[in-house]
Amino acid sequence: MTGNAVLLPDLAATEAFAARMARALQAPLAIGLVGDLGAGKTALARALIQTLAPGTRVKSPTYTLVESYALPGLQLHHLDLYRLRHPDELADLGLAELTGPDAVLLIEWPGRGGDRLPALDVVATLQREAAEARTLDLVAATPAGQAFCERLRIGQGHQSVGDETCGPVQKVTLVNGFD
Ligand SMILES: Nc1ncnc2c1ncn2[C@@H]1O[C@H](COP(=O)(O)OP(=O)(O)OP(=O)(O)O)[C@@H](O)[C@H]1O
Ligand SMILES: [Mg+2]
Repeated sequence: MTGNAVLLPDLAATEAFAARMARALQAPLAIGLVGDLGAGKTALARALIQTLAPGTRVKSPTYTLVESYALPGLQLHHLDLYRLRHPDELADLGLAELTGPDAVLLIEWPGRGGDRLPALDVVATLQREAAEARTLDLVAATPAGQAFCERLRIGQGHQSVGDETCGPVQKVTLVNGFD
């Protein structure tokens, strides 16, 4: 935790926050979604994508590893690396083609990609606090991530923002998922 955690009391709160994130997106950007099984990573990604493209069917990339969406002004690639057996398999996914100036990456289980993944701009960590409550902790790891956090804060409108932006840019070390 960085002290910047947002409390999301239920799924609707997660979806509302994901909608804010959607409105703050600007390509290129890579966001890591970290958290245990069932923490809500896919739920957050789904709401984010559906904010930008209402009615889009968003299935979990659990088996396909990547699901791509052509959205207004950006290509969004939603990855779930849980089933990756080795970071080398990322090459088979055509990761190089998924990056570019108009690409936004949402990456579940980014630790499994090791250093083969592009640098994450933001790490969003979801933690289950109760049956429906989650906390979301956002850390900016690059200036682009910091700029995203700034837009997120500005998009908050008149509600109290507290400390719930990403704070200063931090170096992020992900735990490799194969231990
Ligand atoms: N506040 C909340 N935010 C997100 N999901 C919630 C919340 N409350 C309940 N849920 C439920 O928790 C589950 C989260 O599942 P989800 O598939 O998003 O997890 P995940 O983190 O992607 O897991 P995995 O690592 O297996 O991919 C969903 O069934 C969702 O409805
Ligand atoms: Mg998931």
